[in-house]
Amino acid sequence: MRDLVVAMTGASGAIYAVRLLEVLLTIGRTVHLVISPAATVVLDRELALKIDLQKFSLSQLLPNENDLASDSALRLLRPAQHQPLDPGGSAVLSEIPHGRVIYHHYQDFSVSIASGSFLTEGMVICPCSMGTLASIAGGHSENLIHRAADVHLKERRKLIVVPRETPLGSIQLDNMKRLSDAGGVILPAMPGFYHNPTSIHHLIDFVVGRICDQLGVEHNLFRRWGT
Ligand SMILES: Cc1cc2nc3c(=O)[nH]c(=O)nc-3n(C[C@H](O)[C@H](O)[C@H](O)COP(=O)(O)O)c2cc1C
Repeated sequence: MRDLVVAMTGASGAIYAVRLLEVLLTIGRTVHLVISPAATVVLDRELALKIDLQKFSLSQLLPNENDLASDSALRLLRPAQHQPLDPGGSAVLSEIPHGRVIYHHYQDFSVSIASGSFLTEGMVICPCSMGTLASIAGGHSENLIHRAADVHLKERRKLIVVPRETPLGSIQLDNMKRLSDAGGVILPAMPGFYHNPTSIHHLIDFVVGRICDQLGVEHNLFRRWGT
């Protein structure tokens, strides 16, 4: 199994990325992680997580229970805080993550994922800001996230972007169309409700599960239609 790339940018919905990372690590995947400066602002605002891009450690993004701020929305993800959708669902967090994170600074173009010769199984930008979307659609590789996305497109590898914005303007829609035409998958952070969610956790896992579907990662994060 090849490595995956996960990039976090400054759109709302940082909790989707944290959960995605938890899931991928729990099932033992190796993840190359890049975080934009704007993403750190959102992580702080939404989840009370303080990220140091120069001295990153995984515990900044996935703190254990004791280190979590009392008002952090991340507590919503902890098993004790929610009722699982069904006995088979959303049990992933109780397992010990055994995957690996390889962190890259967003300005470092010398790393593996900046080159098409480094093989990966795909890249996810979650959440994806309109700014990052525009940069990729316009081919402006101004940081490592844009460059790695560009590489995935040119190498015809999976690129999944998870935009979060509403309403959407014509420029943003045009950029999404452009990216989709170039082979990218536009997977908006738009949870469905047909699986009868009863907590925010189920809504988060719906989106994360749909990302996993696109990556070809098996999961039981939500109950599928017709099952
Ligand atoms: C709290 C907060 C929430 C934001 N939410 C969004 C959002 O949902 N969608 C978006 O496109 N930009 C959002 N922004 C603006 C982006 O962070 C901003 O455009 C930034 O330049 C994006 O940079 P990046 O793509 O390099 O991360 C938000 C900013 C802040 C501070």
